[in-house]
Amino acid sequence: MASAAFELKGKTVFVGGHRGMVGSALMRRLAREQVDLLTVSRSEVDLRDQAAVTAWFAAKRPQAVFLAAAKVGGIVANNTLRAEFLHDNLAISSNVIQAAHANRCEKLMFFGSSCIYPRLAPQPLREDSMLTGPLEPTNEPYAIAKIAGIKLAEAYRSQYGADFISVMPTNLYGPGDNYHPEYSHVMAALIRRFHEAKIAGGSNVVVWGTGKPRREFLYVDDLADACIHLMKTYSSPEPVNIGTGEDISIAELSLMVAAAVGFRGEISFDTSRPDGTPRKLLDVSRLSGLGWRATTSLKEGIQLAYRAFRAESDQRHKCDRLVHEKEACITDQSNPTNDPNGRPSHSR
Ligand SMILES: NC(=O)c1ccc[n+]([C@@H]2O[C@H](COP(=O)([O-])OP(=O)(O)OC[C@H]3O[C@@H](n4cnc5c(N)ncnc54)[C@H](OP(=O)(O)O)[C@@H]3O)[C@@H](O)[C@H]2O)c1
Repeated sequence: MASAAFELKGKTVFVGGHRGMVGSALMRRLAREQVDLLTVSRSEVDLRDQAAVTAWFAAKRPQAVFLAAAKVGGIVANNTLRAEFLHDNLAISSNVIQAAHANRCEKLMFFGSSCIYPRLAPQPLREDSMLTGPLEPTNEPYAIAKIAGIKLAEAYRSQYGADFISVMPTNLYGPGDNYHPEYSHVMAALIRRFHEAKIAGGSNVVVWGTGKPRREFLYVDDLADACIHLMKTYSSPEPVNIGTGEDISIAELSLMVAAAVGFRGEISFDTSRPDGTPRKLLDVSRLSGLGWRATTSLKEGIQLAYRAFRAESDQRHKCDRLVHEKEACITDQSNPTNDPNGRPSHSR
């Protein structure tokens, strides 16, 4: 495993997916690094569009790339939008990695995920267990696309000497998480459910499954810190797991989230819902050998995440109100009797 110093300072750095949970954490962390940050919105460049990506890279020529753009979601999204999860993630990885290589990008970080390891791989999950057995069927399309991205980064390294590396984050949570009632991950789902029960004065929250499965959670700002550390110091084809190395049962996690949210009712478990794999924990010995460990405790991280959730909900409500007022205003303007020129407005 090679390590090599890479100077970020003074570089033009592209963060793909900068508005997502990981991308925005990277933006916060990179703000301390004296780099020129480059971003582009999806409406300007859809990263699935090869021609648009090629043209944008040729014009901007980033020297370093964090490829944190992807189609991401929980078990329901993964299992129902199977074509999009496979196609979009293959297209994004192949377009960006090829364009980075073609424009002499000096360093690229590709984001894999802990859920691409084989379903029955020994725990804690080691990096070399990738491709050693069948995948979890519910997220197979996503996993196949992510494995292809990792292999692509590896292939550009072996064939062209490109300094492209891959990381495997565990379950993440924190500011910018997706709280969609159907498509969210477990931590976001619990925060939302306990918060809504508290606001509604509910006496019971039902958690899916038996509560027995064990999972690992990493606060997303810790992930961003690990990524900057690896970007500066790591250069090798093998991916690096990023996690805390500690897991917790869903039942224990539910109690912690309820306490952070201030929900004082009962918690029950809907055992008719699937549990998924009994345990998912990353072996983080490679990462700790490279000199990094997580610093945000789970308790502190959940409090920070809940604070961010409330701030983001306030923001969402403000936006909804603004949209509502704007629509009312447009509806009003479109009334010909209010238009001095007597023309209905279609300025929607
Ligand atoms: N969340 C986790 O627990 C977790 C765990 C392990 C690994 N990861 C990996 O970390 C990376 C980032 O995940 P995340 O949680 O930050 O996801 P996220 O919050 O859903 O953000 C994904 C970002 O990708 C952008 N994006 C998606 N499709 C795009 C397209 N066609 N063109 C341009 N931009 C596009 C989105 O843009 P918009 O803002 O326009 O939607 C968004 O900014 C992913 O590779 C994921 O696999 C995440």
